[in-house]
Amino acid sequence: MTYEPRTFDIPELEGISRETIELHLGLYAGYVKHVNLIREKIADYMHDQDGNAFAIAEMQRRLGFEYGGMKNHEAYFTQFEGGAQALPDGALKDKLAYQWGSSEEWLARFKAIAKTRGVGWAMLYHDTATDQLVQTWVDEQHLGQLVEGKIILALDMWEHSYMRDYLPADKGQYIDAFFENLNWEVVADRL
Ligand SMILES: [Fe+2]
Repeated sequence: MTYEPRTFDIPELEGISRETIELHLGLYAGYVKHVNLIREKIADYMHDQDGNAFAIAEMQRRLGFEYGGMKNHEAYFTQFEGGAQALPDGALKDKLAYQWGSSEEWLARFKAIAKTRGVGWAMLYHDTATDQLVQTWVDEQHLGQLVEGKIILALDMWEHSYMRDYLPADKGQYIDAFFENLNWEVVADRL
């Protein structure tokens, strides 16, 4: 099977330009293309598995990067669909308050994660085994993804997410814009 790039119905955003979103959707399509390409190429190279062992292993190693890029961006863009909506009362709000004291305290902590130096993602997951929320920084698209974590909230902190609109030193403004445009109903429904 091959993956098809998904389409997203993203409204005009405050503080994140249409140009940024269009460019970013193009990058997302590149991840989907490369997931398919790696799978195709590995199948081709299997005609001489021993002779191509090194090439196959390297492609296999890169699959996590491309696959993460595909899935992370699907989580990211979906969060803008339907326009900004406040965090509704319910399980997610309750869990944020229970685990971090309040949703405001959780937000301050999450924003600090988002300011980690380097390119990657601030991620909030649900650990279904323990029914807890857990959050972390993911380097690139895949390094540090938490095992068995279902993505609840995904914030892209690669510079391509904001460099048309903000200077690197002002990435805090992009983080604020992200939250101003976030559809919390979509996020809460993932839990
Ligand atoms: Fe991205």
